[in-house]
Amino acid sequence: MKFPLKDPVRHIIWKGDRLRILDQRLLPRRIAYIDCRSAADVAKATKDMALRGAPLIGCAAAFGMALAARKNSKRELPEAAALLKKARPTAVNLACAVDRMLEVARDSSNGGLARDVARAAVEFFEEDIRANQAIAKFGASLLKKNSRVITHCNAGALATAGLGTAVGVIRYAHHIGKIEHVYACETRPYLQGSRLTLWELMQGKVPATLITDNMAAHVMKTQRIDAVIVGSDRIAANADVCNKIGTYGLAILAKHHGIPLIVAAPATTVDFKTPDGDRIPIEERSALEVLEIHGRPIAPIGAKARHFGFDVTPHELVSAIVTEKGIIRPVNGRNLEKILK
Ligand code: MRU
Repeated sequence: MKFPLKDPVRHIIWKGDRLRILDQRLLPRRIAYIDCRSAADVAKATKDMALRGAPLIGCAAAFGMALAARKNSKRELPEAAALLKKARPTAVNLACAVDRMLEVARDSSNGGLARDVARAAVEFFEEDIRANQAIAKFGASLLKKNSRVITHCNAGALATAGLGTAVGVIRYAHHIGKIEHVYACETRPYLQGSRLTLWELMQGKVPATLITDNMAAHVMKTQRIDAVIVGSDRIAANADVCNKIGTYGLAILAKHHGIPLIVAAPATTVDFKTPDGDRIPIEERSALEVLEIHGRPIAPIGAKARHFGFDVTPHELVSAIVTEKGIIRPVNGRNLEKILK
């Protein structure tokens, strides 16, 4: 059956000799694209946040490897792989994509290398689209009619190849009459919630309201919230969930208010090689992203700040992990392995 919902915008387009990327830093004010012609260009666009979201940076990295393989020589691949993996350390989808392309390259003859890696990158991208659709349906099955939900960061179409993970669940649930209202946390300091999630939900005609991150507790207490739905950048073998900074706080608040926390993520986000959340590398970004907004200081000149990009929610605080292969519940390493291995 054809999936009933469309992505709001084309955000990465494979052109064979280049990867065209929607520059998410300009959203929602402007739609503009960047052309990446090498793995180094893709790594730079990823590091600089022109594109972001764990599954999407994985897809872009796969295409980055395809660009590196264009000369039909395996010599450039290890350097390209290292560069891409370094661009953002937390989301494991990126390493997963690069390793998958290296495997394809290893089995490929030099003459067919460019074709084989490009084909594998397109497959990786299309797999994510299908994963999003399956996640949307599984996730929506956990919600009751007229649910009111909170989401954090942007785990939507802009963060994946398809409809999104958490926002994919919300959009599909809305389509079948299960969503009454969405509260989107703005997600300081990069504002993925206000700039991207609100934009996507409004395009999809899903009733949504923006809240600042520090309003979440009050909203949970007063607005009859049924679920918190988020994505993930890496899920450890024991099912601890790493996601955008602020998710751990939301998880604690949700627990206090008896609200289920649902994590939606494809299998490429699960890292069985990392035993628990404490071993997940947490990206620390420039302090300027906290000290300034659009280049304007919002703190005294010379003030110190830190920008931890992600945090880890212990698996005990997660009610369900929704993947394309099924729902993990109760959330623990054994059940994760049962569904995904
Ligand atoms: O720093 P970002 O914008 O790349 O962080 C994105 C997130 O944390 C998302 O919630 C996560 O990648 C899941 S996206 C489907």
